[in-house]
Amino acid sequence: MSHPSRLAIFPGSFDPLTNGHLDVIRRAASLFDTLVVAVLVNAEKRPLFSLDDRTAMIREATHGLDAVVVESFEGLLVDYAARRGASAIVRGVRGAADFDYEWQMAHMNRHLADGVETVLLLPSHKHMFISSHLVREIAAMGGPLEGLVPPAVAAAFDGRRRARTERQA
Ligand code: PNS
Repeated sequence: MSHPSRLAIFPGSFDPLTNGHLDVIRRAASLFDTLVVAVLVNAEKRPLFSLDDRTAMIREATHGLDAVVVESFEGLLVDYAARRGASAIVRGVRGAADFDYEWQMAHMNRHLADGVETVLLLPSHKHMFISSHLVREIAAMGGPLEGLVPPAVAAAFDGRRRARTERQA
């Protein structure tokens, strides 16, 4: 029996994409016909990577995952979800600390637009400790990023490091 095409949105800052995000993307892509990875245009936050860089890195890292589309969005997530005809918002939960935040956002989004369901997915335990914040901190101090981020993101950090060294030379 055929079923209506199901589209889900995985929103986030992705500054930068980590192996934890990629893990959630793979799991969500197997559950929905289309998964839109939606990068927030951070209006007041100053992200480390530009919107173009963040979307390009996600595109490269998800190359070959046919269900995945990468876009950006501004404004309320529920408005964007309605414009895209999404039936679900996907978020990853690493542990209890994430859950409190996700619980609040999911209920707020339901309050704003009851109709789009939030689906919380667990990344592999191997990725539970990874966060974009810690990745930025390790990279800033020249630490190793193996196992933490996809090759496209590691290459972007290398590029920034090289540019900094050349400026200082
Ligand atoms: O990766 P992040 O920074 O934890 O993602 C947070 C994000 C982008 C999902 C959240 O900040 C968001 O949805 N922002 C859009 C504005 C909005 O809808 N705010 C109300 C959310 S309850």
